[in-house]
Amino acid sequence: MLLVHCLWLLLYNVHISRGDLIEVYKELSHTILYPQEKSDDLPVELGQDDYSGCICRASKQNGVVVCFGNYECRMFPKIKVKCEFLRVRTTVITNIRKGHLDSLYFLKVLEIEANHQLRHIEAGVFKNLTSLQQLSISYNTHLHSIDEHTFIGLVNLRNLTLVNNGFTNILAITPAFKPSILPALRGLDISENAFEIIPEDAFVPMKGTTLMKLDLNLCRLDFIHPKSFLPLKNLRELHIGENDLNSTLIGDFLLKMKDERIYLMYLDLSGMGFRKNPPRDLMEIIAETSVRRLILSHNQFEFIDDDSFPKMENIELMDLRKVLAMQIGSNAFNPHKFPNLKLLLLSGNNLPGLHKAPFSDQLLFLDLSDNKGSPTNPMYYEIDRNTFVQSKELKILNLAFNRIRAIFEYTFRGLENLQILSMENGTLYHIGDKSFKPLKRLEMLNLANNPLEQNENLTSSMFDGLNDLKILILENCGIKRFYDDDNIFEMMPNLTHLVLRNNQLYYISAETLKPLKLLKVLDLSENLFVSWWQPLFLASGVKPITLNLKNNKLSHFSMSMIQDISYLLENNGNSRIEIELMDNIFICDCSSMYKMYSWLQANGSEVLRKFIQSSKFQCSSPDIWEDKRVADYLSSIKTLRCLMTEKMTNIMYLVWTAPSLVAVALILFIIVFIFKFKTYIRYWMFLAKLALGRNFRRKSGKHVETKDYKYDAFISYCSEDRDFVVHMINNLELEPPFLKLCVYERDFDIGSFISEAVLKSVNESKYVILVISNGFAKSQWCRWETQLAEYHRIFLEDGTSYDPLVLVRIGDVQNKYLTTTLKYLLKTKIYHTWDENNQDEFWKKLRNVLTRKI
Ligand SMILES: *[C@@H]1O[C@H](CO)[C@@H](O)[C@H](O)[C@H]1NC(C)=O
Ligand SMILES: *[C@@H]1O[C@H](CO)[C@@H](O)[C@H](O)[C@H]1NC(C)=O
Ligand SMILES: *[C@@H]1O[C@H](CO)[C@@H](O)[C@H](O)[C@H]1NC(C)=O
Ligand SMILES: *[C@@H]1O[C@H](CO)[C@@H](O)[C@H](O)[C@H]1NC(C)=O
Ligand SMILES: *[C@@H]1O[C@H](CO)[C@@H](O)[C@H](O)[C@H]1NC(C)=O
Ligand SMILES: *[C@@H]1O[C@H](CO)[C@@H](O)[C@H](O)[C@H]1NC(C)=O
Ligand SMILES: *[C@@H]1O[C@H](CO)[C@@H](O)[C@H](O)[C@H]1NC(C)=O
Repeated sequence: MLLVHCLWLLLYNVHISRGDLIEVYKELSHTILYPQEKSDDLPVELGQDDYSGCICRASKQNGVVVCFGNYECRMFPKIKVKCEFLRVRTTVITNIRKGHLDSLYFLKVLEIEANHQLRHIEAGVFKNLTSLQQLSISYNTHLHSIDEHTFIGLVNLRNLTLVNNGFTNILAITPAFKPSILPALRGLDISENAFEIIPEDAFVPMKGTTLMKLDLNLCRLDFIHPKSFLPLKNLRELHIGENDLNSTLIGDFLLKMKDERIYLMYLDLSGMGFRKNPPRDLMEIIAETSVRRLILSHNQFEFIDDDSFPKMENIELMDLRKVLAMQIGSNAFNPHKFPNLKLLLLSGNNLPGLHKAPFSDQLLFLDLSDNKGSPTNPMYYEIDRNTFVQSKELKILNLAFNRIRAIFEYTFRGLENLQILSMENGTLYHIGDKSFKPLKRLEMLNLANNPLEQNENLTSSMFDGLNDLKILILENCGIKRFYDDDNIFEMMPNLTHLVLRNNQLYYISAETLKPLKLLKVLDLSENLFVSWWQPLFLASGVKPITLNLKNNKLSHFSMSMIQDISYLLENNGNSRIEIELMDNIFICDCSSMYKMYSWLQANGSEVLRKFIQSSKFQCSSPDIWEDKRVADYLSSIKTLRCLMTEKMTNIMYLVWTAPSLVAVALILFIIVFIFKFKTYIRYWMFLAKLALGRNFRRKSGKHVETKDYKYDAFISYCSEDRDFVVHMINNLELEPPFLKLCVYERDFDIGSFISEAVLKSVNESKYVILVISNGFAKSQWCRWETQLAEYHRIFLEDGTSYDPLVLVRIGDVQNKYLTTTLKYLLKTKIYHTWDENNQDEFWKKLRNVLTRKI
């Protein structure tokens, strides 16, 4: 129905008015392009009806009520809310009795569907439903008949749908449709009932009816008496698709109807099993009738050649969708044959492209979508140069779901009146410069779901000439950013709707938006937008009334965002401003929210505060605020606590905004520092690692020291004391208990980087012996080793008596050479003084220390 509605719109509104455009397109895409099941949103539970046992749900304002109940629902439910639309489905009601529906006098639409136990509807049940306009009693497979008085009272009923019931004899039901009972009946759908034949007197009881539309699809019909439709004097639309009727039969009743001046306008012959060619005789008959819209979809015409159709002067719409067409002759639809053809539907075929547009010049709508072959046998779609040069009247061109790879400056030449171009879900990855330039009147361009940015950036020269464009859809085109120096939007100053959903944008500059002064709807949902740091809308003067930022990466409200939102909410005439911020990653803590909060308190306008208060968007962190509203967080902010954080943030802010020179200097400094002290750094890192490992070991409990050391001790000494050390080695290693020492002059791999080796060895040694002498204290290298050992000790401090540092003092050490660390060590630790006169005692002590159990 919608289809018809918008086709009329197309046919008779020579210029689709501006506001309707997107509506028309939506309707077109829902009806022609890819029809979808309507799904009702029924959030309100009305609970179980005590009387009938049915369960009912309703839409928000109770406009729609649906009742069901597979086991319980045995009676027609009593509905207490005044709804306009009631659907009773999948119940176990067997009988609908008189009086049960009387209280539903307010209904406009009633659907009694899929009640597989329903066997009987009493005459007069609808007596009080005088407002009812649409009634459907469908998919009730056990309902075999309808009493002729059933529909008494339905004086305003316009559409009656009785699809897929158990009716087998049309004569048994038509008496119920008498015009005296259903005086307002316009549409009757009795499809999917196995009538098999329509006898001559089938519709006689309906004589005088106002019926305009009759549906008899899929009724297993193989015979229709030529005179059977004659009582339906007002019939304009006949659907007899998916039956097994031969063309002679159809031609016969069409001729009879023509003779009786029944001006059929619409004839649906889809899925009739016609093969190879449209039946020539039948087409010639149709050409003579008043039929303007001819549906031949779902038949099988592989080659539509120049002679497939006779001259058909009246035809305005030809539907050849899904007819397996592979080829169309270049004159098949030429203006001499189809002088009034305005809408041609060829989607879902196997056409490999277009070479010379074989279409009548006055075509308004051309649907070539979905000619992409099967997944196993995909086809590229080619449009030749100058294909459309004759198509001056074309207003809508649908090339969606085709595998078009590229378009060029000559592809659309001639389409100077085109208003809507759809190329969505294609494989378009190249747009040549000036490709759209011939489309001077284009108002809507849909390029959604094409890999546009796979190989090239979008440039303004591609979009040159789209001065009148109002709606641009670039959803899911892989767009990463827009370039200010080559701003594509400068080409489309009249844009009102811009859809950039599902790209990879994280920022748009004010400069980019600037040309879009008329923008009303901006959809940026499902991108990677972060909280922007410079005003966008305020700075560009662009003021859409709908801004969709759903599902992005906004984490907080920068002042720029707040200014922008405030700007958008500013009184803008009477239009309702919608700003959608759901599904972002707002962080609900002081540092992210306090600034905005305090600004809002002090300087926020009333609308802005209202907007935030009533907003639904949620926090994503921290945990306690996850999935709670940002608005709730804001109203819970504890000012004092946040004030502290605020101070900190201010300092951070200073740091952040300090001149970049400082940052550069800092970085340079760090680099120099790293370079100069790389050994130390490595050392610190080593220590950190050590400490971490240590901590970890400690935390993990058990005994601290299960570690097997490679050495019993690491000896740190200075070359002046080499002799002493040799002595030490002899004493400790060659005598029981044969300790193992690490002495780096001896034990280090030649060439291994010395300090790293030291670090490694220290780590592998149970004890570190510092041989402290004047020379040791003086030597840089030894000092550093001390420090290392000392840190090592500190880091290893774990509450046990284990102290890995063992100090051995040789001779007097002069104070002036001592570093703080050494001083500290000598002051706080027991050290072993080398006593030349009491050597044995010294070695014994040292051995004891080194073999102590830890
Ligand atoms: C029948 O409909 C009228 C309104 O048209 C209403 O006032 C009346 O209550 C209904 N009858 C019953 C039994 O509900
Ligand atoms: C009911 O019939 C009228 C007239 O044929 C039509 O315009 C309308 O779309 C129909 N409604 C439904 C829901 O079929
Ligand atoms: C069409 O069907 C009618 C009735 O079934 C039959 O008499 C007639 O021969 C058929 N015509 C053709 C051309 O098959
Ligand atoms: C169009 O493409 C998108 C993205 O590839 C896909 O999600 C969508 O289902 C497609 N539309 C149809 C109707 O197939
Ligand atoms: C897109 O533009 C950017 C910046 O001008 C450039 O670095 C990049 O190479 C371009 N990409 C392609 C595919 O041309
Ligand atoms: C489009 O914008 C231009 C100015 O850039 C203006 O002259 C023209 O009238 C606009 N067209 C429509 C249809 O609004
Ligand atoms: C409110 O606005 C005034 C003047 O613009 C400014 O000085 C003040 O800092 C603002 N208050 C907050 C909390 O940002």
